[in-house]
Amino acid sequence: MIKLAVTAALAAIALPTCISALGLDQAAVAAGLTYFGTATDNPELTDIPYVTQLNNTADFGQITPGNSQKWDATEPSQGTFSFTEGDVIADLAEANGQYLRCHTLVWYNQLPSWVTSGTWTNATLIAAMQNHITTVVSHYKGRCLHWDVVNEALNDDGTYRTNIFYTTIGEAYIPLAFAAAAAADPSAKLFYNDYNLEYGSTKAASARAIVQLVQASGAKIDGVGFQGHFVVGTVPSQASLVSVLQSFTALGVEVAYTEADVRILLPTTATTLAQQSSDFQALVGSCVAVDGCVGFTIWDWTDKYSWVPSTFTGYGAALPWDEDLVKKPAYDGLLVGLGASVSTTTTATTASSTASGVTVTATATATTTTTAAHWGQCGGSGWTGATVCASGYTCTYVNAWYSQCL
Ligand SMILES: *[C@@H]1O[C@H](CO)[C@@H](O)[C@H](O)[C@H]1NC(C)=O
Ligand SMILES: *[C@@H]1O[C@H](CO)[C@@H](O)[C@H](O)[C@H]1NC(C)=O
Repeated sequence: MIKLAVTAALAAIALPTCISALGLDQAAVAAGLTYFGTATDNPELTDIPYVTQLNNTADFGQITPGNSQKWDATEPSQGTFSFTEGDVIADLAEANGQYLRCHTLVWYNQLPSWVTSGTWTNATLIAAMQNHITTVVSHYKGRCLHWDVVNEALNDDGTYRTNIFYTTIGEAYIPLAFAAAAAADPSAKLFYNDYNLEYGSTKAASARAIVQLVQASGAKIDGVGFQGHFVVGTVPSQASLVSVLQSFTALGVEVAYTEADVRILLPTTATTLAQQSSDFQALVGSCVAVDGCVGFTIWDWTDKYSWVPSTFTGYGAALPWDEDLVKKPAYDGLLVGLGASVSTTTTATTASSTASGVTVTATATATTTTTAAHWGQCGGSGWTGATVCASGYTCTYVNAWYSQCL
């Protein structure tokens, strides 16, 4: 009984490794990437604590509008364009000095009904698609580091997805879309973006064929976006991810992770959160290891605004910050994968427990080795660990909800 009680008391003591380190974007840039970034969306921008961290350029050097540049948002009826919402996010990125990944021009989903239910000939749909691309890309000209020109053109078996563009125009819609985007903004890097390419399966081979199709047409394609949507524990090894990324860079294009998240069957456990951390580490580590992998974007940064729970029943907790905007182990996994500096701390702590009228005191010494550390989580709402920073650092509140060992 006594032994059990002591064990329980010791297990309850957090042994934090709160060592000052770089933020995610700072570590990414130090590792040779162009950025580490996050998606965001207009409705969330009224949440001040959320925006405070979105603005934190130590972590986020890039943002992607989650929905407000999609076709249904930008051209809800034919020839009538609306850029108000997309501009809010473009302006925010610009004011913060964050890169903007623009997303997305031609996709089967979130299309207005005038497109999906229109009566088209090959020529009229090409004209409507070109007009959409030309108008939207021209509006954002000079502001987009990347454009996701064509999104999710493939089924998981590697065949072309049946959509209005494919059934009316054939595969030629893809090079035509890239050509229109290049003409409207020659400086934006143009990406093909899809999910489940990371396994190096038939779908990845078909995505490489898309790169070659565009190249053979004489149009420009600069990159392939790996969306990076995963279930925890299903992320391939870092070595395997590296070889898949390299199979694309061998074609002369860049690669990037564009929408990463690692969803967990709820409720989370310490084990699944640790696995998620390893998964994020492998993903970002593979990008660091590949020349031509330019950046890593998570599909929003807090579980509070993740698309996962409403899309995958029973799943959630897919992002590096929880619903209370508190960092999870995945944050440190990302830093480790980005090769942030190695630190070792030794924390001694004492616990006592009283059982059966006998007081037992035990001292635990834990050595925690990590190749990174986190800012934050040494205090603040939602953090249940001890307020302990490594030697030489003091837990300091940066704002009302967030603290760092500085
Ligand atoms: C976020 O950044 C924008 C642009 O720099 C600024 O206008 C806004 O006040 C910031 N918001 C918060 C909550 O920090
Ligand atoms: C539609 O027109 C384009 C451009 O001329 C052409 O490449 C494509 O093959 C045509 N598609 C069909 C189904 O005829």
